[in-house]
Amino acid sequence: MGAQARVFVTRHLPGNALDRLTAQHDVEVWPERLPPPRAELLARAPELEGLLSLLTDPVDAELIEAAPRLRAISNYAVGVDNVDVEAATARGIPVGNTPDVLTESTADLALALLLGIARRLAEGEAFVRAGEWRTWEPGLMLGRDLHGATVGIVGYGRIGQAVGRRLEGFGCELLTANRPAELDDLLDRSDFVTLHCPLTPATRGLIDQAALRRMKPTAYLVNTARGPIVDTDALVRALHAGELAGAALDVTDPEPLPAGHPLLDAPNLLVVPHVGSATVATRERMANMAVDNLLAGLAGEPMPNQVTPQAP
Ligand code: DGY
Repeated sequence: MGAQARVFVTRHLPGNALDRLTAQHDVEVWPERLPPPRAELLARAPELEGLLSLLTDPVDAELIEAAPRLRAISNYAVGVDNVDVEAATARGIPVGNTPDVLTESTADLALALLLGIARRLAEGEAFVRAGEWRTWEPGLMLGRDLHGATVGIVGYGRIGQAVGRRLEGFGCELLTANRPAELDDLLDRSDFVTLHCPLTPATRGLIDQAALRRMKPTAYLVNTARGPIVDTDALVRALHAGELAGAALDVTDPEPLPAGHPLLDAPNLLVVPHVGSATVATRERMANMAVDNLLAGLAGEPMPNQVTPQAP
């Protein structure tokens, strides 16, 4: 076994994967429910050799530079937009992520959101709980059909394809776009648009006012990818103006949404707290994968799932 490394884990993880890390290394796990403040991360940086980060921790060039002994970063997410992969790679620090194991759970949640917003589930539940349900009514809570609809999948990678497989079972017509240039036709024709692309400089603000205006006023937007892919102010305006039938969001910008944020007052909005991968089995698999990545990186071996900087 190699020498013990100083490792910081920025939150407790479900399951017992961290036991394998603590068995081999000198591990500190941030004990709180909220992420470690920036000052805490920077205070640990000079001694840090291994970092297991979450999507809530900005692992940027400043932090990497403040950590001269850092030799492995493992991100507990498939998305690595919180990590400056280029800065880490330039220092020879491998960065790991957790692909594949969360694909199906995230696709399940996208379907739940598509159905939830189209069939007005949150609204219906609030209605019943408020004691407003008086009788069966022919015109009560009419929604839209997902079956047979045209669904635009933006980002047809692992998760987008898993969503597509499910929608084939609903008899949907699928439109897909992997590049911003392919977007216009998809936006024009879709009854539902569901986002599954990573957050990169090219996709930040991809769904802006112009994109929202291209969508049919009867169409719905679903986002289980990353909040900043959608221009929040433009979405709020579009929902208020009735330019869009509704939106269902697992991710938002900002995230979390502070109380009183204008998005929370927008009509026809279903919002859940970034739970795409949040099942017992998936979060435990992610923890095992993140630990495997970190152990390999600290041992100087290739990580089982190592990311490389994206071409600009
Ligand atoms: C990810 O992995 O990027 C998700 O957003 C959280 O599981």
